[in-house]
Amino acid sequence: MKKVVLAYSGGLDTSCIVRWLREQGYAVVCFIADLGQGEDFSAIEKRAHAAGASKVYIKDLQEEFIRDFVSPSLKANAIYEGKYLLATALSRPLIAKHLVEIAHKEKADAVAHGCTGKGNDQVRFEVSIGILDRKLKILAPVREWEFKSRQEEIEYARTFNIPIDVTKKKPYSIDRNIWGISIEAGVLENLEQEPPEDAYLITKSQITATTYPKYIEIYFEKGLPKKIGSRPYKLKTLISHLNDLGSVYGVGRTDLVENRLVGIKSREIYEAPAATILYTAHKELESVVLDRETAHFKEIIALKYSELVYYGLWYSDLKQALDAFVDSIQKYVTGSIKLKLFKGSCTAVARRSVHSLYKKKLATYGREDEFDQKLAEGFIKIWGMPYKR
Ligand code: ARG
Repeated sequence: MKKVVLAYSGGLDTSCIVRWLREQGYAVVCFIADLGQGEDFSAIEKRAHAAGASKVYIKDLQEEFIRDFVSPSLKANAIYEGKYLLATALSRPLIAKHLVEIAHKEKADAVAHGCTGKGNDQVRFEVSIGILDRKLKILAPVREWEFKSRQEEIEYARTFNIPIDVTKKKPYSIDRNIWGISIEAGVLENLEQEPPEDAYLITKSQITATTYPKYIEIYFEKGLPKKIGSRPYKLKTLISHLNDLGSVYGVGRTDLVENRLVGIKSREIYEAPAATILYTAHKELESVVLDRETAHFKEIIALKYSELVYYGLWYSDLKQALDAFVDSIQKYVTGSIKLKLFKGSCTAVARRSVHSLYKKKLATYGREDEFDQKLAEGFIKIWGMPYKR
């Protein structure tokens, strides 16, 4: 019998895929990645077996996700189309890596995923897998099977006693991990309509958010957050804490019509409280410690970086080279940023760093001014010289 390793979520699609792959002659090994989606993994494991899996792997990948995927992306200030902090996109190359590892260990003939043929995730999985093992066969059942609707899948599941959860109405398609939540489909497909409150999973609305502001100070060391106030945190705990805190203040919601890789525009909403807070703080700190040219160049890098992550090119040479650039300047990104969280907004209000390039004696309009204004005259003449005709 052939063997396949399936990236299994426990949802309707991947549960039907287990059965479907068996009908194609495969023994199915299910791989469940814990990325902080907060689900009942033992229930998911049971469901995988009930659907026909011959073996189930559950791996807690949160630490690795934060260390090797979230951290570099934060240092790069990666944000796609100005609004999406890439939670889903960052998780795919990591899942791909473990799929390939398990496939090797299991001497499997193929790997499989449950992505549709219209999305970005199929691209991210398959491009990543292809880079990690160019010979490994990849199956994408949703792209080729015969089901035309969710209802047909439900009937298929019933026929084969695949345990599924159809009692709960599922108006949205949701992907969740510790770095953020992506929500799409249902009424969100109507661009002319504001997302209904019930589409958001964790954040309060501006109306229900706490009515007084919250100040927090985040201390970064070489580009990564280490403390909130005077309290040191492990990165994972720090992110969880900021997710909880930010949610109460309605921080981290975005509503984006994005350009998918496959050429479709799609409307998606995101919740990423911790990511938003840390992105805001990190960017602010860089504005204080980086010289102008480096800071401006880094914005170009951030844009490119976000595209590479979004496009599934995590394991590309260019992405690695950009990491090296970003890392080379993180040595300056040490210091504290004070933020104000209030009714959905997250604003930097104070900054402090040993590497600050801000010099008050040069910037001030007060008596202690040391900037020699007479020198400006010559500077302007030479600066503007090439542009005179
Ligand atoms: N649009 C996001 C991306 O391409 C999220 C995709 C997954 N979203 C979902 N609701 N299942 O990265």
